Amino acid sequence: MKDLVIRSAGPDDTAAISALVQRTVRISNGKDYQAQAIELIVANFAADKVGQRMAERDVFVCQQGDRVVGTIALGGDRLRSLFVDPELQQVGVGARLVAHLEAHARKVGVRELSLSSSLTARGFYERLGYRLIELQEHDGVSTFLMAKVLG
Ligand SMILES: CC(C)(COP(=O)(O)OP(=O)(O)OC[C@H]1O[C@@H](n2cnc3c(N)ncnc32)[C@H](O)[C@@H]1OP(=O)(O)O)[C@@H](O)C(=O)NCCC(=O)NCCS
Repeated sequence: MKDLVIRSAGPDDTAAISALVQRTVRISNGKDYQAQAIELIVANFAADKVGQRMAERDVFVCQQGDRVVGTIALGGDRLRSLFVDPELQQVGVGARLVAHLEAHARKVGVRELSLSSSLTARGFYERLGYRLIELQEHDGVSTFLMAKVLG
């Protein structure tokens, strides 16, 4: 994929990140979760919540031209909130965002990255070397706890 730039996100990106995540959740995760769970996740990515969390995390966006097409974050030793625009999935954007995040995590001293994978993304993370630890459930939303030791 050409013309993709991954950069740190700031408060000005909050609205674009919120819109991207909410749309992606509805389209891409909608087939794996019940409507109630989808609405819970969508509410959790309202712009004000994204803005609040930005203060506690290192957030990155992937941009194509002036359009935000992907996002990922590091919170402590956890990979958080990876979403790729449904129209740009399966062309390597997600893998590039994870590689960027892993490099950043190593730089700030993280030895092992963990994450809560959606049901949708388990196979994606397995391909990138994350191992399944356990199935978890919070508020009726199932996720897979996964982890990878950074080399
Ligand atoms: C999961 C997600 C981030 C993957 O991003 P993507 O840009 O489509 O992934 P890539 O194109 O970089 O895929 C990398 C590799 O994983 C594979 N892959 C992608 N999605 C996959 C899936 N759901 N299951 C199994 N393999 C998958 C690709 O085929 C590719 O394989 P290859 O290296 O052999 O070519 C994206 O589909 C997404 O945003 N999904 C909805 C939101 C979500 O569930 N996010 C995770 C929250 S924890």
